[in-house]
Amino acid sequence: MKRLWLFNQITSELNRLEKELERLVYTDYPILQESSVHLLAAGGKRLRPAFTLLAGKFYNCPFERLLPVAMALELIHMATLVHDDVVDDSLTRRGRSTVKAEWGNIISVTTGDYLFAKSLELIASINHPEVSRILAEVSIEMCQGEIQQIKASFDVRQNLKQYYYRIKRKTALLISASCRLGGLVAEAPKRQVWALGAYGHSLGMAFQIIDDILDLTAKQSELGKPIGGDMRQGIMTLPMIEALNLLQGAKRERLEYLLGKQVKSEAEVEEGICMVKESGAVEASMGWVDAYIGKAKMHLQELPEVATRKALAELADFIKERTY
Ligand code: IPE
Ligand code: IPE
Ligand code: MG
Ligand code: MG
Repeated sequence: MKRLWLFNQITSELNRLEKELERLVYTDYPILQESSVHLLAAGGKRLRPAFTLLAGKFYNCPFERLLPVAMALELIHMATLVHDDVVDDSLTRRGRSTVKAEWGNIISVTTGDYLFAKSLELIASINHPEVSRILAEVSIEMCQGEIQQIKASFDVRQNLKQYYYRIKRKTALLISASCRLGGLVAEAPKRQVWALGAYGHSLGMAFQIIDDILDLTAKQSELGKPIGGDMRQGIMTLPMIEALNLLQGAKRERLEYLLGKQVKSEAEVEEGICMVKESGAVEASMGWVDAYIGKAKMHLQELPEVATRKALAELADFIKERTY
C-alpha cells in the first residue's frame, strides 16, 4: 500500500518502523514467519504508529523512545485483524488474501496470538509505568466490543447506543491510545496528553463509521477488503440503523427482513446494500462523521501550534475523505 502523503513529516521514522517490525516478527518457525510477514508486507496505512510518532513529535521526543510503543500498537492492531478475519470469515485484507484464506483458522488464531505476544515482549521493555496498563485496558475493552458485536449480530432492533458502545471499544480506544501514549512517553503536560487522547477518540469513532460506510459504498479493489461483509455477517452498522429509521412501511419491513436474515443470497446482500444507500442513510451517517471530525479538531486547539498540529488536522480530513 502506498504511504500516505500526509505522513511526510515522519517518513524516515516510518521506514525504520517497517524494518524493525520485520525484524521483530522473525522466527525460525516457517509457517509463523510466513503468515506474519504475509500481513506485514501487505502494508496497511500504519495509522496507529503514525499517530504515536506525530504525537511525540510535538515534544521533540527521541524516536528511540517512541519506536517500541508505535510498534506495539501496530502489532496489537495486526493481531486483531488476523483474528477478525477468522470471525468475519473474510478472504481479502490489505489487497491480498487473508491469513485465514491462505493457512486456515488454526494458523490464523496462532498467528494472531503470536503477534499479540510479540507486542507484550515490546511492552515489557518500555520503561514507563502507565504504558502497559493502558494497553492492557484497551486490549480488554477491544474483546468486550467484539463480544458485544457477536451477541448483537442480526438483531435489527438494536439502537445507536449499542452501536457506539461497540465502535468505541473495537476501534476508537486503540486509536486514542496511539495518540495519548505518544504524548505520555514524550512527557507532555498532563492536560495535553488528555487532549491527544480525546482527539484520537473522536477520530477513531469517525474512522470506524467511515469503515462501516465504505463496507457498503467502496470499490473492493481500492478498499483492499471485501464489500458487504457487515451485511453478510449480520453486523448492524450505523448506515443500516439509520436506514431503518429513515424508511417506512413496506420498505422498512423488507430491509428489516433482509438485515435479520442469517443466510442471505448474494442478490439479497446486493438488495440490502442498495436499499441502505437509497434511503439517505449514508448522508445521515456522514453527519455523525462531521461531528466527530469537528470535535477532534477542537481538541487540537489545546496543543502547541507547530507544524505537527497541522498534520494532525489534515489527518482528520483524510479520515473523512478516505476511500481505503
Ligand atoms: C481496519 O483498520 C480495522 C478497523 C478498525 C476498521 P485500518 O483501516 O487501519 O487497517 P489497515 O492497517 O490500514 O489495514
Ligand atoms: C474492525 O472492525 C475491528 C477490529 C478491531 C479488527 P471491522 O470488522 O469492521 O474491520 P474490517 O472492516 O474487517 O477491517
Ligand atoms: Mg472485519
Ligand atoms: Mg469493516
